[in-house]
Amino acid sequence: MADETERADDAAAKLTEAEARERLADLAAALEAANRAYHQDDAPEISDADYDALKRENAAIEARFPNLKRSDSPTEQVGAAPAEGFSKITHAEGMLSLANAFDDADVTDFVAGIRRYLGLAPEAPLAFTAEPKIDGLSLSLRYEGGALVSAATRGDGVTGENVTANARTIDDIPTQITGAPDVLEVRGEVYMSHADFAALNERQSAAGTKTFANPRNAAAGSLRQLDPEVTRARPLRFFAYSWGQVSAQLAPTQKQAIARLEKLGFQTNPLTRRCETLDEMLAQYATIEEGRATLGYDIDGVVYKLDDLALQDRLGLRSTTPRWAIAHKFPAELAWTRLESIDIQVGRTGALSPVARLTPVTVGGVVVSNATLHNEDYIAGRDAKGGEIRGGRDIRVGDWVQVYRAGDVIPKIADVDLLKRPEDAQPYRFPTTCPECGSDAVREEGDAVRRCTGGLVCPAQAVEKLRHFVSRAAFDIEGLGAKQVEAFHADGWVREPADIFELKEKYGQGLQQLKNREGWGERSAQNLFDAIDERRRIALGRVIFALGIRHVGEVAASDLARHFGTWAAFIDTVDRAAAEPAASAPDAKARRPLLADSPAWSEITGIDGIGEAVAVALATTLSQEAERASVDRLIGHLDIQPPPARATDGSPVAGKTVVFTGTLEKMTRAEAKAQAERLGAKVSGSVSAKTDILVAGPGAGSKATKAAELGIETLDEDEWLALIGRGDG
Ligand code: IVH
Repeated sequence: MADETERADDAAAKLTEAEARERLADLAAALEAANRAYHQDDAPEISDADYDALKRENAAIEARFPNLKRSDSPTEQVGAAPAEGFSKITHAEGMLSLANAFDDADVTDFVAGIRRYLGLAPEAPLAFTAEPKIDGLSLSLRYEGGALVSAATRGDGVTGENVTANARTIDDIPTQITGAPDVLEVRGEVYMSHADFAALNERQSAAGTKTFANPRNAAAGSLRQLDPEVTRARPLRFFAYSWGQVSAQLAPTQKQAIARLEKLGFQTNPLTRRCETLDEMLAQYATIEEGRATLGYDIDGVVYKLDDLALQDRLGLRSTTPRWAIAHKFPAELAWTRLESIDIQVGRTGALSPVARLTPVTVGGVVVSNATLHNEDYIAGRDAKGGEIRGGRDIRVGDWVQVYRAGDVIPKIADVDLLKRPEDAQPYRFPTTCPECGSDAVREEGDAVRRCTGGLVCPAQAVEKLRHFVSRAAFDIEGLGAKQVEAFHADGWVREPADIFELKEKYGQGLQQLKNREGWGERSAQNLFDAIDERRRIALGRVIFALGIRHVGEVAASDLARHFGTWAAFIDTVDRAAAEPAASAPDAKARRPLLADSPAWSEITGIDGIGEAVAVALATTLSQEAERASVDRLIGHLDIQPPPARATDGSPVAGKTVVFTGTLEKMTRAEAKAQAERLGAKVSGSVSAKTDILVAGPGAGSKATKAAELGIETLDEDEWLALIGRGDG
């Protein structure tokens, strides 16, 4: 191994910078293809030894030319990108994921939270189902008139891969059902049993083809075969556990709905129980965990679901997870390995993130060679408040560290073995300058993260910002993904987002220049320019999100867009807010007395869902000169559209601003708010001239008085329910 590493180093030493850049691009592509083949297609293209050699060569070149390290560097890849080759299906109803509980206290909180939301007393009956969480991949089966018409993987929850032909080959999936609602989407998990997995691996290795790391990989790889005959030969199974669109309700409860699916011919998990108390839920968890080893298939926790479907409905969803269900995970799997080095990655907002490079080790069936180290305090053994973590033990290069994976997230380091610490190991010194651009990296008070101050000067920040800018929820320009925009950045064609909209003008002359670049033909170049042109007209929320401002995620961006409606109103308010006294307060406490003199600031923080952190980030970022010039340049290229109407057309309260006050008797405040928002209303905490409706329960005080003064329509709870069509008369 040492020899081979030396050889790779020698080879790297002979390269010119231009050759190195080109070779790194080739290696990234080759390793990505190999990863894809391994993780997704389960059809290995190269041997493990060849794979390792490519990785070594890549590492050697990166070590010699650190400035050429790509942001999609194979040394940083953990998983694989989504598969291509299948057509896409947009789910009629989003495929949700689940929030996680890691211990009994989390489950207790989950149940208590539901009681609170529903306004139920602690002793009021409330039943849940408890069932194993299958470690496979989820699949949505759509039946129309009893016939299976499509099958789609989860994908990103909105759009998945069309694997209909493959699903038809699975014995557990009926292609025809009788007695079902006209439209029925059955959802569940495709998995492979331990025995089938072992036999499959034996066959694979006998045939000289690649074996699978674990049953889940085997199931995923087998389902996502372009040739359904390959899937047919793989022993896949399916458990049904939920549903998507249905033209008629299956049953009044979760348990009965699952029983109905079973009657229709689906396999459902025999360990599903209805539990009437928290103790029963936890007891079922213990039973399932106890039986885990003898089940014959992998599970990674227990899922609790509120049994009463009407209550599920009332609770509704967060952005991607239901409020009425939770996954109680089994404790994470652990492994010990050596920490070889600590790398620093620079993110979009300049955050310096330490990444552990590990001697590869298998954790719960997956080979792990990178893990997050969070921030400098974490490495030093301190928490955000200066208290000890890990008993104050710091982490040093050369240490033996304990790695764990909690769910599918990035591996983490839990602990360090001081007995095995090399004598010469030194405390890690976190850099105080940016490794990418050399600018100072500073840590503001109260912030756990050290940040590069280079802004747009820092190539790492610029590239990350561009990657974010073209991402799916932002500009999503067809043909201009992270890779392309990075290549354009490396060549100096695109330094900031506005440059994208000047590409054609500057480099599109007869398409010649672009055409000469590797990978671009006349047609693809023209397509790219067309796709860019198409995106000049774009929704306000996407623009705000695309700017990549700290704390302004998709949801905050859409809340801001909905509130302001136009770019001019948004930026004007941000500018005014930045000039107000509140903007220069050091913290929230100091800010409070200044709010009265800060109307624009108060307007922003008064938007439901928008907090101080967002206001601070907007005001500071958009008043930085270089940053602002870059934003203004971008805006000049765009035709920004107001937020699209919500799926609440026809709702009597869409677009109205509603305030709830006093005691509500038929629902809790949280529920009332969520329901009003589902119907397109804005819910505000205070009455102003902009309020359209005040819903006042008993005990309403100053808000009702103020509403009366302002002549605002005031309804009691029943009138409100009648207005939104939920009244009982
Ligand atoms: S219910 C609305 N039940 O876990 C709730 N999910 O972490 C949708 N999963 O994407 C999921 N076993 O792939 C549910 N018994 C079970 C499950 C289960 C496995 C998977 C599913 C989901 C993921 C969420």
